[in-house]
Amino acid sequence: MTIFIIIEQKKRVMISTLLIKWYEINKRNLPWRNTRSPYNIWLSEIILQQTRVNQGLDYYNKFVERFPSIKDLADASIDEVLKMWQGLGYYTRARNLHITAISVVEDHGGEFPSTYDQLAKLKGVGQYTAAALASFAFKQAVPLIDGNVYRVISRLFDIETSVNTSAGRRLFLRYAEDLLNKDEPDIHNQAMMEFGAIVCLPRNPGCSSCVLSAHCLALKHNTVHLRPVKKSRLQNRTRYFNYLYIICNDVTWLKKRAENDIWNSLYELPMIETPFQEEFGTLVKMDPWNQFVRSTFSLIETTAYTHKLSHQLLRCRFFLVKSDSMPDAWNDFTVIPVTELNKYAVPRVIERYWDDLRNRGIA
Ligand code: ADE
Repeated sequence: MTIFIIIEQKKRVMISTLLIKWYEINKRNLPWRNTRSPYNIWLSEIILQQTRVNQGLDYYNKFVERFPSIKDLADASIDEVLKMWQGLGYYTRARNLHITAISVVEDHGGEFPSTYDQLAKLKGVGQYTAAALASFAFKQAVPLIDGNVYRVISRLFDIETSVNTSAGRRLFLRYAEDLLNKDEPDIHNQAMMEFGAIVCLPRNPGCSSCVLSAHCLALKHNTVHLRPVKKSRLQNRTRYFNYLYIICNDVTWLKKRAENDIWNSLYELPMIETPFQEEFGTLVKMDPWNQFVRSTFSLIETTAYTHKLSHQLLRCRFFLVKSDSMPDAWNDFTVIPVTELNKYAVPRVIERYWDDLRNRGIA
């Protein structure tokens, strides 16, 4: 699908011109900006994916001193490269760095290829790094988007689309493409990134002295603090499930799960979901356990499991309680003889708990 965006020609030229002017005056003097060497630029970009500019600078200087050319890096042992990378973490990047150095020397005659498409084929060179290399080193007119650029564009055009969706990425790429100064793509891209890193900050952006304020729709709409929009990722959501396994005269209670959540229609023990881990003393006062644990009871043990789903991490705790007196009727729950529990479809984590209890000869 093609996304058409029309930024008025006059506006786009104005924005890029203002940005570049600002950049020339305010840019940090960084060694990889004073070179056209694809090797040096590539090295800096790979290091800067792992760390901030201040720390990256030390590593960059160390690497350039020890490996002044790509041939020097290719000829080094992987052990030495890894040692020099130490402290940056994610050692796959260091391995890819070495693999690409060897590949450029052996397959490309020691010279980096000069187009985005060829660069993107090198190991460890993703879309961002290929665009950085193509524009900074070869002045190819390709748009460049990193976290800083997402923020600048989302505010300039007051974009409500989430940056971390595929539709969002396509949309922002079109804006970046449209804005790009085709005559000076290298300086334009550097300027966008630097502007995001220094002025258009996530918190406390410098709107009052911003050279783009007259063009910023988010400033006009008072939505600067709301941009960029990021769709919250359910992937890493941690949930706390507390289960009550109450045994009374050889029966227990189960309930069918509702439909608007995981494990739709499976059965489960009386469960309370809490925003963080809670103690038993607190849980028994909460609904629906409080309807139940009125009579005399004793807490036998607590067992914890971590259950991973594709979108969520569940921290499940099971509280085994024995009681001699039957509780009041419990509306939504069904009384089940303990010996018949295996007839009910329950989530895997509950099955696991019961299996473990049986294996230990409990219940
Ligand atoms: N972060 C990533 N690439 C950078 C660059 N070229 N200059 C400054 N910061 C960066």
